[in-house]
Amino acid sequence: MKKIFINPTYKYFLHGGDYNPDQWQDYPEVLKDDMRLMQLANCNSMSVGIFAWAALEPEEGKYDFSFLDKAMDDIYANGGRVILATPSGARPAWMSQKYPEVNRVTENRDRRWFGVRHNHCFTSPIYREKVTQINTLLAERYKDHPALIAWHVSNEYSGSCHCDLCREAFREWLKKKYGTLRELNAQWWSAFWAHTYTDWSQIDPPSPLGERCVHGLYLDWRRFVTDQTIDFYKNEIAPLRKFTPNIPITTNFMGFSTVLDYRAFAKEVDFVSHDAYPTWKGDESDILRASEVSMRYDLNRSLKHKPFVQMECTPSNVNHHDYNKLKRPGAHMLSSMQIVAHGGDSVLYFQWRKNRGSWEKFHGAVVDHVGNENTRVFREVSEVGARLKKLDAVLGTMTESRVALISDWSNRWALDNAQGFQKNDKKVHATHSKHYHPMWKRGINTDIIGEDDDFSCYDIIIAPMLYITSDNMIDKLEQFVKNGGTLLCTYMLGMVNENDRCHLGGFPGGKLKEVFGIWNEEIDTLYPNEKNSVTFNGVTYDAVDYCEIVHAQGAEVLATYNDDFYKGMPALTVNNYGKGKAYYVTFRDNGDFTDVITERLLTECGIVSDFDGVLPCGMTAHSRTDGENLYVFLQNFSINPLETSTAHTWVTVDWKETISGEITLDSYETLILSRKI
Ligand code: GAL
Repeated sequence: MKKIFINPTYKYFLHGGDYNPDQWQDYPEVLKDDMRLMQLANCNSMSVGIFAWAALEPEEGKYDFSFLDKAMDDIYANGGRVILATPSGARPAWMSQKYPEVNRVTENRDRRWFGVRHNHCFTSPIYREKVTQINTLLAERYKDHPALIAWHVSNEYSGSCHCDLCREAFREWLKKKYGTLRELNAQWWSAFWAHTYTDWSQIDPPSPLGERCVHGLYLDWRRFVTDQTIDFYKNEIAPLRKFTPNIPITTNFMGFSTVLDYRAFAKEVDFVSHDAYPTWKGDESDILRASEVSMRYDLNRSLKHKPFVQMECTPSNVNHHDYNKLKRPGAHMLSSMQIVAHGGDSVLYFQWRKNRGSWEKFHGAVVDHVGNENTRVFREVSEVGARLKKLDAVLGTMTESRVALISDWSNRWALDNAQGFQKNDKKVHATHSKHYHPMWKRGINTDIIGEDDDFSCYDIIIAPMLYITSDNMIDKLEQFVKNGGTLLCTYMLGMVNENDRCHLGGFPGGKLKEVFGIWNEEIDTLYPNEKNSVTFNGVTYDAVDYCEIVHAQGAEVLATYNDDFYKGMPALTVNNYGKGKAYYVTFRDNGDFTDVITERLLTECGIVSDFDGVLPCGMTAHSRTDGENLYVFLQNFSINPLETSTAHTWVTVDWKETISGEITLDSYETLILSRKI
């Protein structure tokens, strides 16, 4: 099996983070000491220049690269490398003042003033030109610099602009998609409330002042915003590709954030990079939180099915949660090893050094305002760096998963926006997390996939609340089951097509009725605190939020409702279809039932963890492999020591100790075990 490296010329785990020498130009002694401290912290990679445009181009057309030249040279001389940023995430004041067009327009059509960041127009030809100019200069200047190992394009692209240019671009995008207004009106069902469009110029993005009822319009706007952002990104990277064709390019994503369709965006980056700031609490609730965080990492790995970069995390507290609690001693090592366990080949921080002033001066950093290495956080960061240096064997290795969970952006956008059910919070993402958890706690690798992925490499696919099903998705699910796969879907399956238009002929749409052997006649939304119940294998589970009234039409009924007028109707069905099986869950549970049914699927398919011992609550194990060796990360997320045992003989990757038999894992401990396959 091939290892895949972020940059094959630099085969090390990246450890370091956002470094802002542009802010410290008046403090040469600080910049000098940074180099000493980076060595002590075992940091080898710095992301430089992310918001440095005002320093790089203080006046229009007048450039000053002196601080960056020095940073690149100093970091390299210090044995480090640079992930060089393009500065488009925040522009200089002179630019906003001189060219108001670059400032974003809100959905109420107010043009924003200069301020904050991440608020430029993605269409503005002037902004695109300015970005091309500065990126060209950066790429030309540093193309042969030995410190340069990757490009960090902009920062956390997000948001949308409603200026004339963007609205016109949206109309062009729609023309390309639909061809004719007749087709657009049909797909959007715009005859409703007399919203039929008779000229393209009548179409505007959703706004509280205008249209917000046409679901197809909403969905297309979200897709357009992704496409327009990608288009902007392509403009950004053109000079980088031209001058540095061998330097990999990325932009930092934000996990399951709904701002952009990262699955579409991932096709355009050389490697996925990702920022995460979990709200670790330091108590047993972190066990469930760890599961959610792992799912984010699994998403990032699955977006390109190869190792990803953790571009930002905090070595301790953040400043933007409601309560900015410190990471407890040991939690940083645990959460860093968790990244690697799920396919991350870096631990990079926001931020290297706390700023002296402004918005983020109290955000966690490797170097605190005290300005030296004598802090708990610095020591813990340094320990992570030291450990990463011992993990070379794991770098670039892959993750093999036989289970996948489907989570697509369009589905999330459409369901979140749907009028009906629980109107304001349908808990789509929370439901996905709940269905992911049974694999996590059993130490079973899971991919997070979407419609475009190859389904044939999985034994089990879990697709909770899969509301949108295009013809293509229906075909792929059908083929998957027909060819021997095990599919589990839940309430709200297959209600609309890709343009949010209901499937006719009953739910779930099209062939899915035959695949599952069911027809879903109605869905009941329960009030909070209302319950039904379902008995399965002699155990009774609460049914909350949603109960569908489903008819078995060929499927075997495995469980039924206990109450209400649909008492006795199916709550869980299974259908043999082709060589495979399709399970359907008609209700939402609190997690226990999800666990039991998932266990049944895993058992039927013979899927077990790569770690052979019993995993107590709080302990988990995820693996990577190079095809010859298995690397298992055994982690304890509990605040208590936990025990397990193994029948294999393992060698720890970092300390080369032999491990077999009984194992006690201290609170927050990670063992990195290896053995030949
Ligand atoms: C990220 C952002 C960083 C920094 C960080 C603070 O979202 O990319 O620049 O603001 O949050 O947690």
